[in-house]
Order: sequence, then structure tokens, then C-alpha cells
Amino acid sequence: MKLSLRDVVKKFGTHTVLDNISLELDGVHCLALIGPSGGGKSTLLRIIAGLEYPTSGQVALNDRTIEYNDQALLRHRRSIGTVFQAFNLFPHLTALRNITLPLEKVHGRTPAEARELAEGTLRRFRLLDHAHKKPAELSGGQRQRVAIARAIAIKPQVVLLDEPTSALDPEMTAEVLELIEELKKEGRDLLLVTHEMGFARRLADRVALLAEGRIAEIGPPEQVFDHAQSDITREFLRRVLRY
Ligand SMILES: Nc1ncnc2c1ncn2[C@@H]1O[C@H](COP(=O)(O)OP(=O)(O)O)[C@@H](O)[C@H]1O
Ligand SMILES: [Mg+2]
Repeated sequence: MKLSLRDVVKKFGTHTVLDNISLELDGVHCLALIGPSGGGKSTLLRIIAGLEYPTSGQVALNDRTIEYNDQALLRHRRSIGTVFQAFNLFPHLTALRNITLPLEKVHGRTPAEARELAEGTLRRFRLLDHAHKKPAELSGGQRQRVAIARAIAIKPQVVLLDEPTSALDPEMTAEVLELIEELKKEGRDLLLVTHEMGFARRLADRVALLAEGRIAEIGPPEQVFDHAQSDITREFLRRVLRY
């Protein structure tokens, strides 16, 4: 993927959450965003996803400048897959229907097409046996895998994931991380906010540390994890890797 951020600023009232972020990436297949809580990771991801407007600045994904108006954002959102921390499945619908509904209503597929895409995706992720269960009948890991299946049923080139495992216990975390690794292997580009440092190290080809609305460090994982340049990064890693 190509990602270009130029002087991106986001303020909520007088609070500056993203403070002039600039970055140019090309040929990156997995960008991991790490950093302390409140540093602006989710806000940046939501701006790239087109779910939030920047206060100023420019964002371009794969050479397309994101136009921050409602009409253009609808199109932009349809072109990418997004997965967030909380399982945002509809509780009253089955796993299958959770996937087919947006395919029909948002992406304009016929019910037959939607069903074929949804079943194909569930099968690939070994979730077909659970197709007719509602979220409450699934484990946390299964729910999050259904949420990921929903995000990628349209085969988006870029998938954005915001702490997809933070609500899961370790065993379920592993099954979700395995699935994310499969996405990368099949050629999807990933933009991943994570607190799983080992996973970021293994999967990412770029790691950026965001703290207090600025990029404190960016580079290949070996550089960021083993030869951090900034005190902020070293302090953050010392804290999260202590246990
Ligand atoms: N909708 C909002 N309104 C006001 N403040 C917000 C909103 N969303 C996020 N913030 C603030 O922006 C800062 C960064 O939040 P966030 O992007 O969620 O950080 P992170 O994901 O790195 O933990 C926090 O101080 C948070 O309170
Ligand atoms: Mg966050």
C-alpha cells in the first residue's frame, strides 16, 4: 500500500489529538501503529478509514486523496475493510446474516451474490459450522473472526484493524492473530493498531509509534524494537515488555 499523510491535525475542541502528522509510505504491506493509550492511534485510523474528519491536512491512500465530504467518504469506506476492538456485530442476526446484510445494503450485491461471498469467506476461515449462530452463541474469538470475515468479504485491498484482540483472552487472541496473518499471506495490505508487540514485530514491515499526537518513531520492526532512537519509544517498550 501507499499511504501519505501531510500535516494531519485533529482537534477535539481545544484538545489537539493529532499534532501535524506527516508520513510517506510506499510498498508497505503491514503498518503497525503502537504507542501509549490516548496517543491518537484510533483517531488516526478512523481518519484514514473515513470515519472521522481531520481538522486540517491531507490523507492519500494508494494514490487517491481522501476527500472529506459525506458523499466521497461513503465511497471510500466501501473500498476498505475495517475491524474494531469491540465486536460490532448485530446481536439479533446470525453470523451469516451479519455478513450478507452489508453486502446487500452497502455494496449493492444481490442476496444470492451476498450469500455466496459470505459463505465462501466463512468457509475459508473455518466458520461455516457457525453460520447460523447469533453472536451470543459464539465465543469471543469466533465473534471477532466473523467480524473480520465481514470486513474482508468484499475483498478490500486494505484492511484497517484497531486492537482487534484487546477484548480477548490469550487462546482466542491466538486464533484471531492467526487469521490476520492469513490475510497478509493472501495479499491484503494491513494497517493495524495493536498492543501485541510480538505480533507487530513478526507481521509488520513498518512500525510507527504514536505518542501525544506525534510520530515518535517509525521504521522497520528491528529498528524500532531493538534500536529505538527516541526516549519515548524506549520508555514505552520498557513498560509494555516488562511482564
Ligand atoms: N470523539 C472524541 N471527542 C473528544 N475527544 C476524543 C474523541 N476521540 C478521542 N478523543 C481523545 O483523543 C485522544 C486520543 O484518543 P485515541 O485516538 O483513542 O488514542 P489511542 O487509540 O492511541 O488510545 C484521547 O485523549 C481521547 O480522549
Ligand atoms: Mg485506541
